[in-house]
Amino acid sequence: MTTRQTLRLDGQRLWDNLMRLAAITDPDRPYTRRSFSPRFCEGRAWLAEQFAAAGLAVRIDAAGNLIGRREGVGADAPAVLIGSHSDTVPAGGRFDGIAGLLTALEIAQSIDEAGIRLRHPLEVVDFLAEEPSEFGLSCVGSRGMAGMLSAPMLAYRDPVGEQLGHAIDRIGGNTASLATAIRGDIAAYFELHIEQGIVLETGRIDLGLVTAISGITRTEVVFTGSADHAGSTPMDLRKDALVAAAQTVLFVAEQARALAARREGHFVATTGIIEAQPNAANIVPREVRLVVDARSDNRRLVEAFAAALDAETARIAARQPVERSRYAILSDTQPALCDHVLRELLGASAADLGFSTMEMASGAGHDAAFVSHIAPAAMLFIPCRAGKSHAPEEWAEPAALTAGAQVIGEAVLRLDQASA
Ligand code: HGY
Ligand code: MN
Ligand code: MN
Repeated sequence: MTTRQTLRLDGQRLWDNLMRLAAITDPDRPYTRRSFSPRFCEGRAWLAEQFAAAGLAVRIDAAGNLIGRREGVGADAPAVLIGSHSDTVPAGGRFDGIAGLLTALEIAQSIDEAGIRLRHPLEVVDFLAEEPSEFGLSCVGSRGMAGMLSAPMLAYRDPVGEQLGHAIDRIGGNTASLATAIRGDIAAYFELHIEQGIVLETGRIDLGLVTAISGITRTEVVFTGSADHAGSTPMDLRKDALVAAAQTVLFVAEQARALAARREGHFVATTGIIEAQPNAANIVPREVRLVVDARSDNRRLVEAFAAALDAETARIAARQPVERSRYAILSDTQPALCDHVLRELLGASAADLGFSTMEMASGAGHDAAFVSHIAPAAMLFIPCRAGKSHAPEEWAEPAALTAGAQVIGEAVLRLDQASA
């Protein structure tokens, strides 16, 4: 292999870009760029400008993914993709998603500025709606690229009644031709992401080489009871939907602890959404909607949890008594394995650049899980302070961002050279 200079990245430009995009947020609840919102579109417009300024051909595919592409010099060579997502959770952080996106842009820019012409086309990808959207679905764009965005999913509605398919078209996708978003021409996909955990920081390890991405099952449960006067309705005559919901929340936590204690894999479950109606101090709650998020790298644990949740919520409803008026699986993804060849390429690149690494599974979901269905996919974690994420306190050091970008850039060059 011919020796070549290490790729020179502009760490300051990377950091400035990151802070610039992070600053595009709902001002009243930093840092928020909810998918499909005007704020999200504002961030996308800025991203598209940066992609174009970096000399990339910019497009939005039929599934709503923003893609910047530079052609390679190899005839019909498959593409190398580097990406992540620019949407956030409500009141999230400045690094989840855009750290991977802007390191991808920095790598593309630095390769071009070094005068390096890759054999493979290189693409920087902002996947649409990686976070659970207002439509109840996450990883919308990467599902679309993998051919896993179904017609029933396109009919999911948000709280104001818009259908997901309409929203995808509204931000530049084209669901009438959704099949054109499905890719079969990808040689490799790399995604840098903050760990969103505390293992790397605690172990003073520079980078994480992701082995597997947890499967996620999200279940919606609605209990319907009866709104009654809180002062005059005797306790034994109530149909209190919130009591049933509270018992379910406790069951979810207890069941998750028991399954995690089996040590048969990573297992967590969270009731992150609880909406009570009419939500007034002096009215017995009529209806409560819950969404339960369960995750594991061991599918058997998720299936055991799902069966227990279904049985227990039916028992709770009968005991109250209230009606379990809705019980729906909103999304259900299998655990995804990351590509071991790409992981070894990342590991070797990191070692040669003097960075320490460790292999680890991801409890968080990522677009790479869906891309792994259509191409070899690899993820590289960088530490985040105290493992904090999905909160404004989220923080990663500039040096860690540059290190991660350096390693992925090096791996891309090696992959490209190896296939020459
Ligand atoms: O929820 C997740 O795991 C990711 O942050 N979307
Ligand atoms: Mn996230
Ligand atoms: Mn993320």
